[in-house]
Amino acid sequence: MKIVTIIGNRPHFIKSSLISKCLAQTDVKEITVHTGQHYDNNLSGIFFKEFKLKNPNYKIKNTSFNQGHQTGIMMTGIEGILLKEKPDYVIVYGDTNSTLAGALSAIKLHVPIIHIESGLRSYNKNMPEEINRICTDHMSHALLCPTKNSVKNLKKEGLQGIFTGDITYDIFKSHESFIMSKNANKGNYYFCTIHREENTNQKRLKIIFEMLEVLDHKIIFPVHPRTKKYLNFKLPKIIDIIEPLSYKDTLVHIKDSVKVITDSGGIQREAYYLKKPCITLRQQTEYPETHVGNWNILAKNSQEFFDAVRNMKFSKHREYFGDGKAYEKIIKIILSLK
Ligand code: UD1
Repeated sequence: MKIVTIIGNRPHFIKSSLISKCLAQTDVKEITVHTGQHYDNNLSGIFFKEFKLKNPNYKIKNTSFNQGHQTGIMMTGIEGILLKEKPDYVIVYGDTNSTLAGALSAIKLHVPIIHIESGLRSYNKNMPEEINRICTDHMSHALLCPTKNSVKNLKKEGLQGIFTGDITYDIFKSHESFIMSKNANKGNYYFCTIHREENTNQKRLKIIFEMLEVLDHKIIFPVHPRTKKYLNFKLPKIIDIIEPLSYKDTLVHIKDSVKVITDSGGIQREAYYLKKPCITLRQQTEYPETHVGNWNILAKNSQEFFDAVRNMKFSKHREYFGDGKAYEKIIKIILSLK
């Protein structure tokens, strides 16, 4: 059996690491394609090193353009690779432009698609990720779902998903003891990341920074290049802008923070795994599970943000994301497709 795996962004490199390592122990031949969507060292190379990923078999030359242009360049590259490699299946992860490009290229050539992290929905079609995940799910042959809720979401659309658990929880579990043994050594701080399209314009970022600057502790803010482009206004001293962090450093910083403030899907979940209160600066979330028991609060405006900063009272913390062995179920399903 031959599989082509499409990866292209920071979260893909992390998620694919475990599945690729497991596939290497089977008789499946995996060919990896890096779409070039993330090209900076601290969004790409650093994770290949940290997770000891083998160099991709193919790397598409891509520097970010507009959404359509970027996706088109990826598709042109992926199509040529699929025609040459003739795989039995294509694996795509998550909901990024690389995911969509991989799925579209595969389905046009009648190559069945395995979608890992299927079925998540924000029900906001203004988000590029929502379009990417809906389209990818409707093109995929195997829909592998991180949560039971994502299986239900698919059912509403007439699709049948399989609950496997969340691969990001598996990866967290395998690093947990290391993360718990390290300290960020930065005193009291909020840990903040912002990179979603809806938050990355100057007007919105100014509003976010006005909220952050009146907090009672400093804010450690690893900045995504997309966000950095808009930070050409005077930044409050309380905000410590740093370069993007590695996976382990990110998790250690989350663990040692007072609270997490984010718009990232990955960090919402990682804060939950670490039982760290999280405030999500978005209108919706794909992870309603993290809101049960108030571990994660959606702050749609300044009032909701300050209410969340002051009063977060938590209750039940549950294992919504599987048993830390999603990879075993995923590999079993892949092998059963032979
Ligand atoms: C993408 C995903 C998002 C995911 C995120 C993880 C889509 C639609 N969005 O968002 O779901 O959470 O990755 O980080 O696919 N840039 C660089 N260097 C790079 C990569 C990007 O400078 O290595 C800059 C470019 O100016 C680019 C901007 O960041 O225009 C946005 O990059 P892009 O890859 O389009 O989306 P992300 O915001 O990274």
